[in-house]
Amino acid sequence: MRMALIAAFLGFFIFLEHGSLLCMARGNVHRYDFVLKETNFTRLCTTKSMLVVNGSWPGPVIRVHKGDTVFVTVHNNGTYGVTIHWHGVKQPRNPWPDGPENITQCPIPPGTSFTQEVSFSDEEGTLWWHAHSDWSRATVHGAIIIYPKPGTTYPFPIPYKEELIVLGEWYNGDVMANIQEALETGGDPNVSDAFAINGQPGDLYDCSNASTYRLLVDYGKTYLLRIVSAVMNEEIFFGIAKHNLTLVGMDGAYLKPIKTDYIMITPGQTMDVLVTADQSPSRYYIMGSPFADTTAPFDNTSTTAIFQYSGNYTPPSTPYSPSLPAYDDNDAVGNFTARLRSLASVQHPVSVPLKITERIFITVSVNQIYCANESCAGPDGNRLSASLNNISFVTPTIDILQAYYSQISGVYNGTFPNKPPYFFNFTGDVGNNTIYPSLGTKAKMIKYGSAVEIIFQGTNVGAAENHPMHLHGYSFYVVGMGNGNFDNNTSPKTYNLVNPPLVNTIGLPKNGWTTIRFVADNPGVWFMHCHLERHASWGMDTVLIVMDGPAKTNKMLGPPTYMPPCANS
Ligand code: C2O
Ligand code: CU
Repeated sequence: MRMALIAAFLGFFIFLEHGSLLCMARGNVHRYDFVLKETNFTRLCTTKSMLVVNGSWPGPVIRVHKGDTVFVTVHNNGTYGVTIHWHGVKQPRNPWPDGPENITQCPIPPGTSFTQEVSFSDEEGTLWWHAHSDWSRATVHGAIIIYPKPGTTYPFPIPYKEELIVLGEWYNGDVMANIQEALETGGDPNVSDAFAINGQPGDLYDCSNASTYRLLVDYGKTYLLRIVSAVMNEEIFFGIAKHNLTLVGMDGAYLKPIKTDYIMITPGQTMDVLVTADQSPSRYYIMGSPFADTTAPFDNTSTTAIFQYSGNYTPPSTPYSPSLPAYDDNDAVGNFTARLRSLASVQHPVSVPLKITERIFITVSVNQIYCANESCAGPDGNRLSASLNNISFVTPTIDILQAYYSQISGVYNGTFPNKPPYFFNFTGDVGNNTIYPSLGTKAKMIKYGSAVEIIFQGTNVGAAENHPMHLHGYSFYVVGMGNGNFDNNTSPKTYNLVNPPLVNTIGLPKNGWTTIRFVADNPGVWFMHCHLERHASWGMDTVLIVMDGPAKTNKMLGPPTYMPPCANS
C-alpha cells in the first residue's frame, strides 16, 4: 500500500517534471494485419469494386488501452499505391508511420507491405484510421477505440454497452476517378450519392431498407456511442428521434458532459455520446444530414439507422424521425460548438499555454487558378483551387519528412509565412482580392517547445464555408472562435483559457475565425489541412516542421528499417 502510494507519487512527480506526453510508460503491444483489396459492394442498386481493408466497409476496429503500442502490417493487394494514417494518434517523436502521402512517406506500392508502429500516449476515447492518398479514404477507414488504462475508468457511469457509429459517404462511381477527373478539368468533383451509417445508407435511399443498420437496445439502459465521421466533403448533423444525447468526449479526450438533441460532427472528428433508452419501446431513426452552408455543390440526402427497443410492442409503420437543423443552419453549428469544454478534472487536467512564443495568422480560402480562354471547368472558365495564407500547397514527389531528415534540397522550403500577403476585409465584399493564389510547397518551421497560437481566418474569397482544420501529431486547445474578421483587440478578450476543448480537428466557422493553442513538444513533420477532401486536394494544406530540442528526448527518431520507396528519389 505504502509502496504503491510512493510509486504513484513518483509517477506524478516525473509527469510534472517533464510535463510532456513523451515520457509516459509503455503499455501493451498489439499486432494487426490490414489486407487492402478491391472488393465488390452493392449500395443504391449499384455494384462496384472498391478498395477496402480485410473485405469490409468500414474496415476493422483497432482496440487498445491508453498508452499501448500497435504494429499494423499493411499489405497492399490493390492496384495502386496507398498510405494509411492514424488520425489523432500523436506518434510521439515518430512521424515516420504517420501516413500522409508524400508528406511523411511515399505510397505503399501494390504487391508490397509496410509495417507501421502506432504509438498511443495520452489519447483516450475514440479515434480512427484512414487512407491518406488521393481519395482512397472514402472506402479505406475504420475506428480506433482507446479504453482507459487498466485500473482506471471512464469519468462517467460505466455504460451498459458501447456501439460504434461510423459515418461514411457512398459514391456510385469510382471515387479515385472522380477526383482525378475534377483535377484534370478544374471543376468540382461529383458529390456523393449517399451517406451511410456503418456502411448502410438506410431507409431513405433506393434499394437500401433491407440492410438498414439496427442498434438493438434494452429499455432503461445507457449506451456509449462512439461516433466517427469518415465523411469526405460535408459536415453532419446527427441525432436520434425523441432521445437526448450526452456528449462526453471528442477526438480522444473527455469533455464536460453536454446534453443536446443533435451534434454537428465534421469530417475527421470523433465524438463519444451517451444515450439512455428511456422512451416508450418502439423504433426511432438515428439520422445524419449534411450541414453545408455554401454555394458549392453538396450531397443533400440523409442517412438513417434504427434505434430499436427489444421486447413486445407494435412498431410504428415508419420509425419516428428526429428534427435536425436545416442544412444551412449556421447558428445551430455555432451554438453547439460554443458549448464544448474540456473536462478539466484532477484525473484529466488541462494545460493551456498562456505565454505565446509563436503566433501564426492563417487565412483559409477557396481560390481559382487562371485558365487561358476560359478553358477550365471551374468558375469563369478557371480552375478551382484552395489555399492557406494565399499559398496553394503543391504536394512534392518525394516525402517532406525524408527531405527534412536527409537534407535533400528542392523538395520543400521552410518559408510558410506567419501572415497572409495582404490584409483586407476578409469576410466582407472581397472583390477580386487574392482570388489567385501562389503555388508552393512551403512548411512552417517551429522551434521545439514553442507555445504556438494559430489564428485561422476564414475568408469570403470563392465559396465561403465551414472548414474542418486538422493537425497531425498534436491535439490543440480551441481557445476562441467568432464570426467575421479576427480583431487583435477585442477577439482575444473572449478567449477561454480555463477549460477549452482539446481536439485534433475543428470547424472554422464560415466567414469567421478560430484560435488554437498547443506546445510544440512533438518533434517531426506534421501535415495540417482542411479535412474536406476536395479542399485538401485543391491545396488547403501546409506542413508544420517541429525541430529537435536540445535534450535527447526532444529529438525526432530515425526512420524504421523499411520505408516504401519513392519512385522519384
Ligand atoms: Cu484524418 Cu490528414 O487526416
Ligand atoms: Cu475547407
